Amino acid sequence: MSHARTQIDSTGGPDEVREWVRQEFESHDDSKQAYYHDSGGTFGLDAQGNRHHDGESIYQHFGAKPFWKVLEGAETSNHPAYRYPSAYLNALIHVSDADIWALERGDLSRFDHEPETRQRVMEWLSRPENREVLDAMDDGGIGWHAHSKPGKGKTSAANFLAGARMTEINNETVLWQLTLDECEILPLAPFTTLAMPAGVEVTVEAVPRDDRLPRVAIEPTDVFRDTLTYTDPVDLLEQTCPGAIYGVLPDPKFRGCERLVEASFTSAWEAEDTEENTDLVEWMHGLVHARAKKDVTLHPTTAVIDEAGDMLPIRPENDANDTKTKVKGFAEAFGKARKKNLSCVFMSHSLATFEETVREKERLWMTMPETPRPSGSLTGLPDSIPIYPNYSSGLSKGEAVMWNSMNFVPISWPNPYRTYGFEGEISISYPEREVALDAL
Ligand SMILES: Nc1ncnc2c1ncn2[C@@H]1O[C@H](COP(=O)(O)OP(=O)(O)O)[C@@H](O)[C@H]1O
Ligand SMILES: [Mg+2]
Repeated sequence: MSHARTQIDSTGGPDEVREWVRQEFESHDDSKQAYYHDSGGTFGLDAQGNRHHDGESIYQHFGAKPFWKVLEGAETSNHPAYRYPSAYLNALIHVSDADIWALERGDLSRFDHEPETRQRVMEWLSRPENREVLDAMDDGGIGWHAHSKPGKGKTSAANFLAGARMTEINNETVLWQLTLDECEILPLAPFTTLAMPAGVEVTVEAVPRDDRLPRVAIEPTDVFRDTLTYTDPVDLLEQTCPGAIYGVLPDPKFRGCERLVEASFTSAWEAEDTEENTDLVEWMHGLVHARAKKDVTLHPTTAVIDEAGDMLPIRPENDANDTKTKVKGFAEAFGKARKKNLSCVFMSHSLATFEETVREKERLWMTMPETPRPSGSLTGLPDSIPIYPNYSSGLSKGEAVMWNSMNFVPISWPNPYRTYGFEGEISISYPEREVALDAL
């Protein structure tokens, strides 16, 4: 972990709370990605030879071993991850057809300009004894779908696997849509750019758990490394850089989304009643369509979609928000975007209430502790689910099982909430939108 945690005493005032937050989320400022955003995107990543990539630091921030060492350990112990690479490693290691071709020939010079952490993984993958693993790797994006009741570890697993491992192994761009109910990405905040909708008032508050301490208004950069503002999904994609993590605040005005998705979005300001008001989580439809259709970037990108059941409900109806058009359109856009290296990490409470046309396009699922095995009769899931019915009751916090149509792999991750000592919530809100909602 990067630093000792501080605590403050319960007589502290606003300045002490603010200082506590600043210390606990001290930014990681010396990477290529930090410099890229600091310079307003004017310096390419290659122009800063002596700096490292964020992905070379984040796994260390979580106290984890480098992934190439994990791979060597899995090989030595013949771990299921090694035996069934398509049930787990295929989702973590992203290689294009051209990468696979170079690896088959043992040509590692192709990766000379990549982060060292990726070079080590590629070197491992090119060894003749690991040929079956290489053969299991698919071109394009993949992702996974984690399901459980709240509190079972979905978000923390994504902090580690999408935030730390994707950047370490693939120099992946990570776009994490925040829900505003919870600041899901806090453990990654020192490495994160907060992407804010242009012209929308955003307030950020630190709310200590100890209620003798005051809640205080803070700047986004007291928590996050830096910020950017975007006007629509295409503009956001244009500002992203390889290997960087974005905490994306969805645009409550959904600018650009109607055109991209060809369905209607109604902001709180335009809605006649609460029924008509579009849920913020639906902004992600716009982003996935932009990624599928606009070819702004083809760099491997992971979109993290928490509460995915809210944007992709089963058997949608065409209501005032064109829910059916959006949901059915998502399956198609998701398929296209995946060919262009977009991976989606879905998190939801239940696979059974998640839209089936999207389920049919999924390849990997993650079942959390104390979560019943889903029914194989659900369309899109394998007829015979490869985990035992009560498998997940044997899992502890910080463990899960990843599976595909044939095999399963038990996995674990370090507790990301231990990377900081601030005890409380970072609460983000859109005050003008709340006023508009209250008026409905
Ligand atoms: N590696 C771990 N070891 C122990 N506890 C963990 C670990 N990872 C997460 N947790 C705990 O699990 C709880 C729930 O995690 P969270 O990811 O928020 O669940 P969900 O997204 O499913 O609601 C948290 O209280 C967290 O402290
Ligand atoms: Mg969660």
